[in-house]
Amino acid sequence: MAGALQGVGAVVTGGGHGIGAALARRLVAEGARVVVNDLDAEAAWRVAHEVGGTAVPGNCASEDGVRSLLAHATQALGRVDLYMANAGLDHVQGEPVDWLETSDAAWSTLQEVNVMAHVRAARALVPEWLETGGGRFVVTASAAGLLTMLGAAPYSVTKHAAVGFAEWLSATYGHRGIAVQAICPQGVQTRMLEEAGPLKELLSADSVLSPDDVAQAWVESLADDRFLVLPHPEVADYYRARAGDTDRWLAGMRRIQAGLDALEDR
Ligand SMILES: NC(=O)c1ccc[n+]([C@@H]2O[C@H](COP(=O)([O-])OP(=O)(O)OC[C@H]3O[C@@H](n4cnc5c(N)ncnc54)[C@H](O)[C@@H]3O)[C@@H](O)[C@H]2O)c1
Repeated sequence: MAGALQGVGAVVTGGGHGIGAALARRLVAEGARVVVNDLDAEAAWRVAHEVGGTAVPGNCASEDGVRSLLAHATQALGRVDLYMANAGLDHVQGEPVDWLETSDAAWSTLQEVNVMAHVRAARALVPEWLETGGGRFVVTASAAGLLTMLGAAPYSVTKHAAVGFAEWLSATYGHRGIAVQAICPQGVQTRMLEEAGPLKELLSADSVLSPDDVAQAWVESLADDRFLVLPHPEVADYYRARAGDTDRWLAGMRRIQAGLDALEDR
């Protein structure tokens, strides 16, 4: 399906590493022109150079950061047709993993990057897209945003909000030419997974995919324009189970948590 995105002007946030870098490579392979954003400037430049795109390093979450990113992206691309809100955080470096010890400041940082980054970008793009023929807004959320992630309250809560916002955008603007998608993977072999500490094993319980697999699943989803992109097909089963009998599903989650507690007590 090469060339599915011929000529499309795309921005990828958090494109310097992991899933974002794979999305940037795949976008270019499909014919898109790409702006690579990342807080890690060197990584943004490296990936942009590799794919023949434009690096716009910086914070994709703050009000100023979003404004600057969109201004530079518009300059480079002419028009932003596709915005891949991919950057995300599962914890703040140096903060304790235990949610009881996680500071309000760390909760706010996750809220900024995992939710408000998307809100601010969409707030700038949607009015323009409504006037000029539409666009596509893709959020890399997580299976944690559909189910939950044991041991990671701020991540689970903010990823639920990310899915909720994407769903709301789709419901509100889908009939007016704005396509919205939420990519919800489980374990993906990236720096985030490597640095997940004790949660790495839990995230790897089912299959661990490569970032390229995630990019592939997203490109395949374009054929029937699905809102939910589930690179791990088992997530669809868990999501159905949760909706069908939430208490039964929660009982299963408690059993997994009890197993983790027992391992920790050893
Ligand atoms: N790896 C997994 O197992 C997994 C599973 C489900 C969802 N996800 C989601 O996929 C997305 C990409 O994560 P990844 O696994 O590739 O992790 P990663 O850590 O390899 O990449 C994330 C990138 O985002 C950048 N970033 C963070 N905050 C930023 C900001 N404010 N502005 C600009 N860039 C910023 C980082 O510098 C980094 O390059 C995240 O939203 C993550 O929550 C990852």
